[in-house]
Amino acid sequence: MSGEGGGGPHGGGEAPRGGSAGNGGPGARRRRIVAGNWKMHLLGAAAAAYCAELRRGLAAADGSALTPASPDPGAGVQVVLFPSFPLIPAVVRDLAGSEVEVGGQDLHPAERGAHTGDVSAPQLADAGCRWALCGHSERRRDHGESDELIARKLAAAARHGLTPVLCVGETREQREAGETFAVLERQLRTGLASHPAAAGAAVALAAGTAAALVVVAYEPVWAIGTGLTASPETAQEAHDFLRRGICSATGVAAGGVTLLYGGSVTPANAAGLIAQPDVDGFLVGGASLDPGQFLAIIACSG
Ligand code: PGA
Repeated sequence: MSGEGGGGPHGGGEAPRGGSAGNGGPGARRRRIVAGNWKMHLLGAAAAAYCAELRRGLAAADGSALTPASPDPGAGVQVVLFPSFPLIPAVVRDLAGSEVEVGGQDLHPAERGAHTGDVSAPQLADAGCRWALCGHSERRRDHGESDELIARKLAAAARHGLTPVLCVGETREQREAGETFAVLERQLRTGLASHPAAAGAAVALAAGTAAALVVVAYEPVWAIGTGLTASPETAQEAHDFLRRGICSATGVAAGGVTLLYGGSVTPANAAGLIAQPDVDGFLVGGASLDPGQFLAIIACSG
């Protein structure tokens, strides 16, 4: 999708949202994003059918409130898909000319080398990706990814023109032990430590291009794939904390950084969540596998 989607985060368009006090303030501008994380699902034929249906659905909605093709770029929702690695080239091809962008679910921090089974940022970019998930809780759990490793992945993505989506979130045990904010603080601060925004790119952040530099997804582990969703109030509390945390980790106002919520998002709960002032979109797992449900979540996020 390289070179397309001129109104998206990669093209600079951002939506006006009321931000939390002290973190960009009312009138802060940031883009809404709805991303689908396909995880290790779908084979080629199903992915092709999915892309065709997604394109039809977005076209039927006329683009008016859904995509950055809207005459008012601020009114659009940037849609992103994260297919598994083998599907990426076909999905990029099937979505060519649409405003939907594609990303990798993971990446290795090195540019190349003897790392069997891994994929680099330049390879993702070369395949047409514009985005990369960093530190999804399933990577932290299944592959023991540390905050330090995730920080290096995030920096590698940013270096190669991929917008990193830093995933953070507490487990049920951590929430019950009252550790939620300490966990979020650690994951955020360490994860952003090697990002250009924390290492001298404050000017770019302050100038309002933060959405193109980093997106943060709050994904409480206890809500992922469980059918349990954070209440809108719980999500807002965490997002407000994260926005303030980005501000203190990078030293600049974070009113322009898009914050996504993830964890059992469905068409039934999306409207209540997106109504919160610091919820700017969603990272959707299970419901993103059904184009009808994904389209409904996109529709209520505009
Ligand atoms: P879920 O997954 O929507 O199935 O809970 C979200 C995610 O893991 O990104």
